Amino acid sequence: MAKVKSKWICTECGYESAGYLGKCPECGAWGTLSEEIQFASKPSQQNEFVNTQKPELLKDICLNDEVRISTNISEFDRILGGGLVQGSLVLIAGDPGIGKSTILLQTSGELCKNGKKVLYVSAEESSAQIKLRAQRLCVNSDNLYIYPQTLMENIKSQIEEISPDVVVIDSIQAIYSQSVSSSSGSVTQIRECTNLLMHIAKSKNITVIVIGHVTKDGSIAGPKILEHMVDTVIYFEGDKYKSYRMLRSMKNRFGNTSEVGIFEMHSDGLKEIKNPNELFLNERSQISTPGSAIIVTNEGTRPLLVEIQALVGTTPYPSPRRVTNGADSGRVLQILAVLEKRVGLNLSKQDVYVNVTGGIDVSEPAADLGIALAVATCARDVAVDSQTVIIGEIGLSGEIHPVNNIEKRLNEAVMSGFKKAIIPYANKINDKRIETVPVKRLIDAISACVSPVSF
Ligand SMILES: Nc1ncnc2c1ncn2[C@@H]1O[C@H](COP(=O)(O)OP(=O)(O)O)[C@@H](O)[C@H]1O
Ligand SMILES: [Mg+2]
Ligand SMILES: [Zn+2]
Repeated sequence: MAKVKSKWICTECGYESAGYLGKCPECGAWGTLSEEIQFASKPSQQNEFVNTQKPELLKDICLNDEVRISTNISEFDRILGGGLVQGSLVLIAGDPGIGKSTILLQTSGELCKNGKKVLYVSAEESSAQIKLRAQRLCVNSDNLYIYPQTLMENIKSQIEEISPDVVVIDSIQAIYSQSVSSSSGSVTQIRECTNLLMHIAKSKNITVIVIGHVTKDGSIAGPKILEHMVDTVIYFEGDKYKSYRMLRSMKNRFGNTSEVGIFEMHSDGLKEIKNPNELFLNERSQISTPGSAIIVTNEGTRPLLVEIQALVGTTPYPSPRRVTNGADSGRVLQILAVLEKRVGLNLSKQDVYVNVTGGIDVSEPAADLGIALAVATCARDVAVDSQTVIIGEIGLSGEIHPVNNIEKRLNEAVMSGFKKAIIPYANKINDKRIETVPVKRLIDAISACVSPVSF
């Protein structure tokens, strides 16, 4: 019987060790080493992929424009930077049950409508299960191959036989290669299979979309190591208990990151939400409430209107709480410090909760002023007018810095029916459709929103 060995591998960087280590000596991450059992050792087949290309002079390299394949799902195309790039490896990562198989089956159907040949490798579900889902999603196509298979070598030979334009692997954690002895889902397997898929994608100019599960406790080797290997990483997020879902690009060698696409889950599949502002704002009341401010974030190419909520109250604890949800906590602490020092708002005995509604993450500094106003108005029990949007970055001395894409942001506010915008002075602009109030300092922004008597 083959000797059973075990080794410890870092899920972040792939560092290997014979025993457990709390801290990875390679990348310095803590608690990332996971044990892998090696059943037998076979030589790796990596040398099968020796690249025979020679160095070329830069001036001699001819450029063929990257060919993009449209998925017919405009939100998905936008996240990808304008469609799937031929010969690229794309990772779609997300919690189990979030809808990864659903969106990729839908996408496969759409790609087939465009005359592409798609091979959908299902390593987790049977053909019948896929068929049932396809019926529910109304996907039917003559060019769509469903292939229930877990062995990488078989997948490879089918790709060679069918020569599809696009391959979907559902999921990378469920497939394994014979050349590696550890079980499927282990770091070594994921690395080996991804390597093989990368090679297939590049050598045959096939687009490979790989599904990766993310687990909260990280019991399966997290797709971190995968992220370093692939061309594009897209996170599929959302609340399993609510119907909307978000696609977010985290890494893209062929496009802009920080794009967000929003979908809603229906029984017949995921539907794009073309105007997400309605979704994020319609739950809020039209009455102005203390502790609420509407901002226009512009993290990707499309601006989004998002509500920032704050709750400020006397703390029952020895040291006050600072809880943030959807905003960067360091940034919020800085804004609170500026509010104390430059506006004279005393928060030292107050708990402060800041929440970005709609499950959106806002990390750009242009959200600062909105956060500050939500906190300040809640602390003073006054309200920002519900028809006003707030845009601006706050500096440490309480000055307001300009933001990028002001026209785009204002345009979005106008389209959603807002009447007034507080904007940085340096972004001063004349817009007939909306009243703009350019402000130089935080205190000016506060007095422009609420009566100065309150402060
Ligand atoms: N019959 C159905 N009607 C409506 N929604 C469904 C139905 N079946 C499954 N779903 C939705 O699909 C989700 C599972 O999607 P799936 O693509 O299998 O997820 P993943 O591949 O990410 O694990 C469920 O969480 C549920 O929201
Ligand atoms: Mg699935
Ligand atoms: Zn490491």
